[in-house]
Formats: sequence, structure tokens, C-alpha cells
Amino acid sequence: MIPFSPPRMDQKIIDEVIDTLKSGWITTGPKVKKFEDKLTEYAGHKATLCTSSGSAGLELMLRWFGLKEGDEVIVPAYTYCATANVVVHCGAKPVFVDVKDDFNIDPEKIEQAITSKTKVIIPVDLAGFPCDYKKINQLVRKKEIISQFNPTSEEQKKLGRILVLADAAHSIGGIYKGKKTGNLTDITVYSFHAVKNLTTAEGGAVCLNLPESFDNIAIQKYLKVKSLHGQTKDAFSKTQVGGWRYDIIEPGYKFNMTDIAAAIGLVELERYDKDMLVRRKEIFDTYSKTFSKHSWAQVPVYETKEKVSSYHAYLLRIKGISEEQRDEIIQKIFEKEVAVNVHFIPLPLMTYYKSTGVDIKDYPITYDNFSREISLPVYYDLTDEEVQTVIRAVVDSVEKILMERR
Ligand SMILES: Cc1ncc(COP(=O)(O)O)c(C=O)c1O
Repeated sequence: MIPFSPPRMDQKIIDEVIDTLKSGWITTGPKVKKFEDKLTEYAGHKATLCTSSGSAGLELMLRWFGLKEGDEVIVPAYTYCATANVVVHCGAKPVFVDVKDDFNIDPEKIEQAITSKTKVIIPVDLAGFPCDYKKINQLVRKKEIISQFNPTSEEQKKLGRILVLADAAHSIGGIYKGKKTGNLTDITVYSFHAVKNLTTAEGGAVCLNLPESFDNIAIQKYLKVKSLHGQTKDAFSKTQVGGWRYDIIEPGYKFNMTDIAAAIGLVELERYDKDMLVRRKEIFDTYSKTFSKHSWAQVPVYETKEKVSSYHAYLLRIKGISEEQRDEIIQKIFEKEVAVNVHFIPLPLMTYYKSTGVDIKDYPITYDNFSREISLPVYYDLTDEEVQTVIRAVVDSVEKILMERR
């Protein structure tokens, strides 16, 4: 079976992890600090905080902004549950908005969904393709939108408008108008989960890029405390001479990254642009070149004049098929020993969100994208031969199902 997305765990990573294990320090310490500095340098934002996951990073920042019951947060209907679940954790309401043909949230529909309760917008760079940040950043600065904003925390008052919290779980290395994700809006969160382009097994990072009125470095220092139980010193500092005494300044969270995770991340980041992204792009290009020749295929857009994807997931759509036919095609592909996937089952189709009154009928593009979509394997170690095997499995399966329909 050709797997869907195994991590690239080679000797370099193993050596770096063993080095950490032998160093005598395995939780948050010098490697996390180094990884944070390298991420800031990489994307060009103002400061980075590493976290135990992307979800933890998103929730931490919603809590930092003072999100609470009665507030609304705009999220795309087409995303992984983490984007909306963190809003629910804070007692607030996720307000779903339909996406466009490129799978990303539709800025025009965001505008229609904004109310006086809206505190945050969470755009998701789905499959690694950056959202329309220019439009979203301009939208939250519009006079009519600002005049509706109803701040209730110190941070909300200071920002004076809706916060844009980008969910870049898929898009580290993605580019919009010459800048990398992380540096495109107020705050961005990466995920380093095992299936992501750049992994630490589990992990995430908050990229702070708040306007000049905020001291991003000071906020990063505060978030270190907030993400470790509100404890004024981390475990590493407490082991230093005379450093044992500490205080708890608030009931914070346990969202810190370990040095073992950061060790993996440091190796991944060092070679990320040089060979990880290069190989992923080659695979995307091969898929698109081949599938474009078939009239039934709708290949994804992953590079335009303004945007470059991080090539996270290759989302192929089949023209004119139903959800049931898509499922049959997937079954056939699996029978040919190729693992594929669907990114994602829209949240309005999930039991919990349905129970809150959300209806997929209100998100027609989301449903259309989902019902015809198949995500193909993309990973560093996928060989050219295997890419051809995937292509053959997809073409044969699609054509068989389409023939049966005739
Ligand atoms: C779009 C999106 N947002 C957020 C997350 C959450 O990331 P993590 O698994 O690191 O918590 C994921 C993870 O799969 C994701 O796909």
C-alpha cells in the first residue's frame, strides 16, 4: 500500500532526537528557544511562541484576546474541526462562512457574516494555499466594520477592531505577495502535527505580528507564562542556581512544546525550503500535468501571480460526480493499494455542529468542493514510480466509475 502521508524520519532526525535525549533536558528548554528564533527568522514576523499543538496555539490566542461567551468568531465551513472547536472551548460561537472554488474562505461572505458580536476571523489556508489576506486585512479596517466593534477586554480595546487569527496549519512556507505566511496578518498559527509538511510529531507555533501599538516581544514573554500554568519561570529556569522560587500569576494552560519536539522541528526547518518544498512541488506538478489531460479532472490552483502554496495537500476534484460516486472511486483506489483521503468533511456535516443548528445547505460551494474531492498522497519520500502508480490508480478508478454511469 502506498501510504497517504508518512513523516520523513531519517538518520538526521534520529541523531538530533538522541542528542536531546542524552542532553539531560527533554522538555521546554534551549531547543524550543532556538526553534522559535529560527521560525521568526524564516517567516519574518515579529516573535514566535512554540506550543504543544496548533489547536493549543489557536486557543491560547483566543483566550489572550479575551474571547468569551456571547462573542462570535468567523470560520470557514470547510476546515478541520480544530478551527471551530477552539472557539467553542472559549464559550463563543463559531459562525461558518462558505468558501470559494479555491477552497478558501470567501471575503465577501465574511463581510455579510460580521455582526456587533464578531471578535475574530480565522481564515484557513486550506491545503497550503494562502487566503486573500489583502481583502481580509482591509475588511477589518473598514470604518463601518470598526464602528460595529464592541471591545470587552484590554487587548480588544487596544486593537480597536476584529482580530485576524490565521490558521496556517497547512501553509508554512506558503507565499502571498512576496511574504511568507506568518507575516501576512495580526497573528498566525502553524501546526506541526505528524501529517503536516513540517512536523515535530505534535506541536504548533504562534507567529505574532500585531500592529506597532503592541509590543510583540513582551507579548511572547507573557504567552510563555500563560502557556505554562501562569508560572513565572519555566522548569529549565527553575533548575538554575538560585532560581527555584516562582509565582503563579494566573490559572494558565499547559500548552508548552518539548525540546524533543523542537529537535525534530529544527532539522525539518533547516531543509524545508531546500528540499522538502521542492519535492512536494515536483509531485504537485506531475499530478497536474497528467490529470489536466483528462476532461473529467479539475486540478487545484496552487500557484498564481500573487500566491504560492506550501504544497500541503493535492486536492483533485472530479467534474460532475456525486458524493456517492466519489466514495466509490476512493474505494477503488484503495483496492489498488493506494491510500487517499478527503480534506475535509465540512463541519456543517458533523453531528455536533449539526446539533447547533448549522445546515450544509447554507454552504453550497463547500459541499460541492467536498463531494467531488479526493486528496492524493504527497510526501518527501514518495518516489517518481509511486507517483505514477497513484496516477494510474486514480485514472483507472475514475474511468471505471464514469463508464458504469453511462
Ligand atoms: C486546518 C487545521 N487547523 C488546525 C489544526 C490543528 O492542528 P493540531 O493538530 O496541531 O492541533 C489542523 C490539524 O490537522 C488543521 O488541519
